[in-house]
Amino acid sequence: MPADAESVTLAAKALRAGEIVAFATETVYGLGADASNDKAVAQVFKVKGRPGDHPLIVHLLTVDEIDEWAVEISEEARDLAYAFWPGPLTIVFKRSAKASDSVTGGLETVALRVPSHPVARALLAEFGGAIAAPSANRFGRVSPTSAEAVCEDLGDDVEIVLDGGPSRVGLESTIIDCSGDEITVLRPGGVTLDRIDEVLGYAVSVGGETRAPGTLEAHYAPKARVEIVTARDAPQIARDHLENGRKVALLAPPPVPIGLPTSVGVLEPPETDEEYARVLYDRLRTADHHGIDVVLAVLPVGSGIGLAVVDRLTRAAASK
Ligand code: TXA
Ligand code: MG
Repeated sequence: MPADAESVTLAAKALRAGEIVAFATETVYGLGADASNDKAVAQVFKVKGRPGDHPLIVHLLTVDEIDEWAVEISEEARDLAYAFWPGPLTIVFKRSAKASDSVTGGLETVALRVPSHPVARALLAEFGGAIAAPSANRFGRVSPTSAEAVCEDLGDDVEIVLDGGPSRVGLESTIIDCSGDEITVLRPGGVTLDRIDEVLGYAVSVGGETRAPGTLEAHYAPKARVEIVTARDAPQIARDHLENGRKVALLAPPPVPIGLPTSVGVLEPPETDEEYARVLYDRLRTADHHGIDVVLAVLPVGSGIGLAVVDRLTRAAASK
């Protein structure tokens, strides 16, 4: 059922009571708790099965609230915030005293994001505080891009799921670290590097030391094994797997490669990089529903959000 005023009120009340709720954002669904309530935040870690030293993103309603949660905010960080918020960018700042160890995993920095999805915004407005929220999936698994996917993964562990329809971006936010001397992108995502470069006026560096689990080499994995292939090699690789008794599916931009064995399940192909990002997790979950053993994935070629798709598929492939 789509979230309405009544369910949003109920969810805000639950947050105030120290309970956790799942809610739609434009990137993926989040599993939220009152960011100022350590016990509530602990419950998020417990349900996710996430190690306590992996920090959460604090979601805010407005850009102005960053001054409550962060200190020593640079001009450039503020430019990025105003350029992309509300939206799929997470910025890492030096934390203020308000950001507790339970949220930051003991780091001296805090990750902040102002989401744009109307359901997330309605919840933040009604709750009146900050919401600490990771993606609403068990640790290491594929992030949910629909309310159904949240329920499937978390089951009875979360009572309230605010349904905002399928996620528009479909991949997690871009994380950019503005807490040190050099600005660094820690995770490619909903905001492309080109757009960040445009705001900064130079090419931002990518990578760097981090404790972000989304940056672990193996992450974002379905049950099926993910193998990255080229469209040209896909038919032969598929045949090898089939001969070994494995169920195989193909995830690739169109067209379907010539010579692909007919017993290979073809997951509905995404036409553009944006669509690839939007449907990626949904297709991986579909593969799991069909008991697929191996997903052969052909990477998108574009820069832009295609880079984030490449990042997630590479990590999924590294995990088996
Ligand atoms: O799009 C998103 O970012 C979604 C929606 C719900 O907002 N959230 C999300 O959360 O993907 P999660 O917890 O699955 O990933 C958050 C990432 C993790 O890789 C975490 O380690 C990193 O943000 N992170 C959080 N605080 C950090 C910090 N202080 N320094 C570096 N990385 C941090
Ligand atoms: Mg996650």
